Amino acid sequence: MRRPMVPRVPTWPSCDAPPALAANEIHVWRADVRQCEPYLPRLRMLLDTAEKARAARFVAEPPRQQFTVARAMLRHLLGQYLTRPPGNFRFAFGPSGKPCLCEPATTVKFNVSHSGNEVLLAFARNREVGVDVEHLHQLQARDAVAERFYTLPEAARIQALPLADGERAFFHHWVRKEAFVKAVGKGIASGLSAEVEVLDRADEPPPAPRLVREPHEGKDWKLFSFELAPEYLGALSAAEEDWTPLFLAWEPGSAL
Ligand SMILES: CC(C)(COP(=O)(O)OP(=O)(O)OC[C@H]1O[C@@H](n2cnc3c(N)ncnc32)[C@H](O)[C@@H]1OP(=O)(O)O)[C@@H](O)C(=O)NCCC(=O)NCCS
Repeated sequence: MRRPMVPRVPTWPSCDAPPALAANEIHVWRADVRQCEPYLPRLRMLLDTAEKARAARFVAEPPRQQFTVARAMLRHLLGQYLTRPPGNFRFAFGPSGKPCLCEPATTVKFNVSHSGNEVLLAFARNREVGVDVEHLHQLQARDAVAERFYTLPEAARIQALPLADGERAFFHHWVRKEAFVKAVGKGIASGLSAEVEVLDRADEPPPAPRLVREPHEGKDWKLFSFELAPEYLGALSAAEEDWTPLFLAWEPGSAL
């Protein structure tokens, strides 16, 4: 079967208002927290009381800003997709903490990730979706973590690489694992990540998507990884094979 090509380094055209969310598309939105800084006081006003209290509990400024931008962006974009005011949404949480809208009838599903200066959101219609972004950094116990969370071939591939390449490969696999477990709605500690191989297939040149079969429910989940910026890697996973991603940059000013 011919697979659609997805760029390994997507361009992120900036977008004031989301295009219609087609059933065979996943919209992936990115924001740079530093560019949102001038808008933060007004973005904070989009959060509900519990979210404001949660933001206030962060001791350090960077995670507070990350959380505030992510929630304001989520509320703004949900409001656009569902043509409702951003303050109108209430969230419920799955058994491992995956947020969803408190409205079983809605067809829009989403997932959120943040790391360093990057916030990444994914929206899908009628299918579960997971997204992850990680800032590349040095890891003390890289090989031990790989042994715990990766399959034997994945861990072996990482351990065989020189230090700097191994780090990149580690995070390349990590974002794929997390996007997958987040799509499925479990946690990284569930053990699922160590059962599922997310290694790029040797017989497919990048950026061909990888198809992963979830061991417990037997469903297929498509998986892409991509670069956001030189030190940031991202990945996206969603149920079934019949979708393509659309990458967009969020304009914080459009939410105000
Ligand atoms: C979900 C998880 C993989 C996120 O990892 P992370 O890299 O630290 O964080 P990310 O920035 O990528 O994602 C965080 C966002 O994912 C979402 N999220 C939280 N739990 C989730 C889950 N189980 N599945 C999917 N998404 C989840 C939230 O929106 C969260 O952001 P928010 O708290 O600001 O709203 C990790 O926290 C985890 O494993 N959690 C599950 C814990 C668990 O298993 N609990 C069992 C309770 S018994």
